[in-house]
Amino acid sequence: MRVPEHLAIIMDGNGRWAEQRQLPRILGHHHGVEAAKAMVEECRRLGIRFLTLYAFSSENWGRPADEVRSLMELLNRFLAQELDSLLAQNIRLRVIGDIRQLPSGVRSTLEATMARTAHNSDMVLTLALSYGSRDEILRAVRRLAEAVGQGLLQPNQIDEDHLTQVLDTAGMPEPDLLIRTSGEMRISNFLLWQLAYTELYFTEVLWPDFGPAQLRQALREFGRRQRRFGLTARQVQPDN
Ligand code: IPE
Ligand code: IPE
Ligand code: MG
Repeated sequence: MRVPEHLAIIMDGNGRWAEQRQLPRILGHHHGVEAAKAMVEECRRLGIRFLTLYAFSSENWGRPADEVRSLMELLNRFLAQELDSLLAQNIRLRVIGDIRQLPSGVRSTLEATMARTAHNSDMVLTLALSYGSRDEILRAVRRLAEAVGQGLLQPNQIDEDHLTQVLDTAGMPEPDLLIRTSGEMRISNFLLWQLAYTELYFTEVLWPDFGPAQLRQALREFGRRQRRFGLTARQVQPDN
């Protein structure tokens, strides 16, 4: 099976999963965390080199305060519990997003986990936390503007590589496949620049129910796609 080098996932539908069972939404998030852990293991096993999970958007800060608080507690617990498992699986943790907004406890656990796993090399697990793509692009543009202001860069020299290198995703390949669960067909401010030529896969399955079998189905579909990047079919597959 052809696996993407970089898989990105919008893990959506935890709240609805819980509501369908007359459970509080936060229980849906608990099950969502379990699904995420299983996905990390499965992706590494399949040889996916980069896995990026959209866990909390910049817009999610606007949710009811108790949901935000519970999500932050859950995140902190997840990070503290996962360190050993990330080390055992040789997985490096990265984060994208404006982490200055995270509670200081979460931030310090995150920074410690990133430092401890920095030299791991089987897979890079990137969590998008307090992440919004427009915010990421704005922060990147400000950095380029500062370089111009300091005379380090001429405006007419700015190319795609310059911008790519100041995005939070610097150094990562662009996603080959994006999966969004729960039937919503939108990007919700995720990786707007990086998804330019990513294959998109949408499924009705709610995130807590998305397991290895559902992943295999997505990867099979991905394997059938022809990625043309603006060229003709003949150019990308000359023997047809
Ligand atoms: C995704 O599940 C997780 C986060 C956004 C934190 P939701 O909480 O968005 O679940 P639904 O969309 O309300 O079902
Ligand atoms: C996107 O889901 C963000 C995450 C999965 C973390 P949302 O549930 O916040 O997106 P919308 O509001 O349905 O677009
Ligand atoms: Mg949602």
